[in-house]
Amino acid sequence: MKALKQPAASNREFVMTERDFEIIRNIVSERTGIVLSDGKRDMVYGRLARRLRVLGLPGFGQYCDVISQDDGEELSEFINAITTNLTAFFREAHHFEYLEKELLPFIMENKKERKIRIWSAGCSSGEEPYSIAMVVRENVPKDWDVKILATDLDTNMVNKASLGIYDEKRVSGIDKKRLKRWIRRGRGNNSGMIRMSDELRGIITFNQLNLMHSWPFRGPFDFIFCRNVVIYFNKDTQRILFNRFADFLQDGAHMFIGHSESMFNVCDRFRLLGKTIYRKQGI
Ligand SMILES: C[S@@+](CC[C@H](N)C(=O)[O-])C[C@H]1O[C@@H](n2cnc3c(N)ncnc32)[C@H](O)[C@@H]1O
Repeated sequence: MKALKQPAASNREFVMTERDFEIIRNIVSERTGIVLSDGKRDMVYGRLARRLRVLGLPGFGQYCDVISQDDGEELSEFINAITTNLTAFFREAHHFEYLEKELLPFIMENKKERKIRIWSAGCSSGEEPYSIAMVVRENVPKDWDVKILATDLDTNMVNKASLGIYDEKRVSGIDKKRLKRWIRRGRGNNSGMIRMSDELRGIITFNQLNLMHSWPFRGPFDFIFCRNVVIYFNKDTQRILFNRFADFLQDGAHMFIGHSESMFNVCDRFRLLGKTIYRKQGI
């Protein structure tokens, strides 16, 4: 769990100077695109204090030395600690309704090839791609070749997502019929846990991917979900990213973004259909 409230700076176990915070936020921005505002000091302290304890370091100055030089394991732990991974099954439910009622019927009617390619970019612990997989499998005939690519920067999240195992409380809001079809309940030692069915897991490929780096695939995708990810980036990074997404989508393909995100004055290659759903414009 990533800690919420931190003790006042004067009562803290470690000293984090202004310089330490500057170094940390520069590395985060260079490596991930995530912008840490001044208001994020307490959050950064809370998330990284644990790393200092694990490494037995006396202060943030020494930790900054490690992450400034390190290109290996600690850098990955550092990035994992900084990312915010909040997610849920069927989060922003209107996107899944649109998918079921509008987009999938449109794709099935118009595609020449019986093939659908989907990307969940910034998938966190996997609830988003599994929700997409359920809707797709319920609505697209079995003889369609459907594949979902699900990627995230945070290696812990990608590992958790590919296991597809969750506390059953996480699925309590899902319709019973849907649960019965797609979810296996744990027994004995695993009681209280659920696992996504093999059929769902079989159509999703989970990979670690930093959206700031090159993308080792070609697309084109029929639709991309990149929700509640760009909110952590500045406008220039968002502009570059939305343009890259546009390059990986067919004309007329769709892009779903988070409820507090917008392409307004950022990227004009998409047309807003409503409620953070966009359609790529043809040339
Ligand atoms: C708040 S979660 C959103 C999860 C899901 N898309 C949703 O809306 O429920 C944001 C995710 O973006 C990922 N992320 C942040 N920066 C990233 C980057 N540069 N490349 C890839 N993923 C990134 C984080 O690791 C985190 O899991």
